[in-house]
Amino acid sequence: MSVRAEFDEWAADGRDRGMEQRHWHTAKHVLGRMPVEVGETVLDLGCGSGYAARALRDAKNAGRAYGLDASPAMVRNARSYTDDPDIGYLIGDFDSLPFETDSIDHAFTMEAFYYASDPHNTLQELSRVIRPGGTFYCAVNYFEESVHTHEWQEKISVEMTRWGYEQYREAFRNAGFYVVEQDTIPDRETEIPPEDEFPTDEWKTRADMVEQYREYGTLLTVGVVP
Ligand SMILES: C[S@@+](CC[C@H](N)C(=O)[O-])C[C@H]1O[C@@H](n2cnc3c(N)ncnc32)[C@H](O)[C@@H]1O
Repeated sequence: MSVRAEFDEWAADGRDRGMEQRHWHTAKHVLGRMPVEVGETVLDLGCGSGYAARALRDAKNAGRAYGLDASPAMVRNARSYTDDPDIGYLIGDFDSLPFETDSIDHAFTMEAFYYASDPHNTLQELSRVIRPGGTFYCAVNYFEESVHTHEWQEKISVEMTRWGYEQYREAFRNAGFYVVEQDTIPDRETEIPPEDEFPTDEWKTRADMVEQYREYGTLLTVGVVP
């Protein structure tokens, strides 16, 4: 199934808002760290419900915020959640970013980058559209070291790239970024039931669930364009 078909289904049954709620646990810490100055232009790749653009406008006074997504239904939903004229939600693909060279100050992505059909090309595109000194904050929950996330690929028909810490850093460097930060942000908000309630439908042991959410959480890699 194409990215568009898969995520149009998700948007139609309200999963855009469900993802927003879950991803917000760690995405808010990523957004909070972004060095956005008043009036700057920001981009969210794979915006889903579009919460990041709204947050960067509201909390950081970004001048213009764009959310880009391959799913028309996601973009339609995102547009319906705000009437802010300085937010633009666009239908587009990570393969070819519809922005001028050096036109974006800072870019963000949460739980979307690994769907890129050619992630190296997407990084090249980002290093083109982000101006010198601008940043790319790349957040993923699906990555090599987070072993309990590996089974997600079986549940979705779109191919996902599973890199680890070093592969992210190397790919960023190869695309021309300086890697200035990489760490994992624990999800301290997903509720973990007491030991005597395991196994659950989704988890064999409580230790596995603790490992995924509290230890691994979200992998953040931050690149700066020289
Ligand atoms: C798992 S959702 C995450 C949405 C949002 N970032 C969040 O944190 O809730 C991934 C989103 O990326 C979009 N996406 C995946 N691959 C894409 C691509 N190649 N180009 C543009 N958007 C893509 C999907 O349509 C979907 O809305």
